[in-house]
Amino acid sequence: MLDLKEIDGLEENERVEGDMVYCTLCGGEKLEFLDWIDGTRKVFRKMCKCQKEEHDKQECERKRLQRIADIKKNSMIPIRYRSVRFSNTSTGSNQTFDQAYKRCKGYCEQSEKVLKNGWGIYLQGDKGTGKTHIAACIANELIEQCYEVLFTNFFEITKEIKATYNSSSDVSEIDLIEKIATIDFLVIDDIGTETMKKNGEDTWIQEKIYDVLNKRYNENKPTIFTSNNSLPELVNERGMMDKTVDRIMEMATVILKFEGQSFRREMRKVALPF
Ligand SMILES: Nc1ncnc2c1ncn2[C@@H]1O[C@H](COP(=O)(O)OP(=O)(O)OP(=O)(O)O)[C@@H](O)[C@H]1O
Ligand SMILES: [Mg+2]
Ligand SMILES: [Zn+2]
Repeated sequence: MLDLKEIDGLEENERVEGDMVYCTLCGGEKLEFLDWIDGTRKVFRKMCKCQKEEHDKQECERKRLQRIADIKKNSMIPIRYRSVRFSNTSTGSNQTFDQAYKRCKGYCEQSEKVLKNGWGIYLQGDKGTGKTHIAACIANELIEQCYEVLFTNFFEITKEIKATYNSSSDVSEIDLIEKIATIDFLVIDDIGTETMKKNGEDTWIQEKIYDVLNKRYNENKPTIFTSNNSLPELVNERGMMDKTVDRIMEMATVILKFEGQSFRREMRKVALPF
């Protein structure tokens, strides 16, 4: 006969029948008996079917949250934009912003299709109109959906490429560009601010921008750009190579224009506690 003291008493949803404890929910056995070396019988608790299912569910959720935390850590989203979401972004004060908000939210709702087709977005407009903010809403939402996202700009990318030239670097330039080219979603903030030409000559950065974007184009992976410049301005005013901009044009299946006053002006009106 089972001595309940051996198993520290019954837990919730359990009943004893003969020598065995059963789950009252799934009817499964909750004990396992082993013959010990010294000849005595040992009793151990085991999970019934419903406990095992619950355990697996929790384990799956734990892994999902860990994956999201890892992606977030590597995403390079700037601190200022880490907590921005579609759900905590106010609309109603600027029509072009609201339109972009709607399209970009819809973009995230169709993430599977978007990724499969390599559809990107080009967010264009004056300073402070919310482009980086919306790009961060997209990035944060896609991370919550467990996609790998890298949020960066060409200053950072070229800085990282230069770091690979250091003999102590354990990453090669090829590997770094491969990583950037194949990540699920890439956000390039502020394209067009780089110095593309010096004394009429293409700078090294110009070649690297082409290299990264061309690889991404070939991989057919979605890229989200923000810029103060239109695509023709990237060529005519910023001196970017025509063939680079031509690829951006095809990668950015939607161009969303932001107009109006800077949100930064509004933010200065916030009452301060000092
Ligand atoms: N709808 C909004 N409601 C409140 N604050 C916002 C909204 N959109 C943007 N902001 C905030 O306004 C500031 C400026 O926005 P953001 O950085 O996105 O501008 P931007 O268009 O990227 O400008 P720039 O071209 O200078 O990079 C940020 O702090 C951002 O979080
Ligand atoms: Mg910005
Ligand atoms: Zn059970």
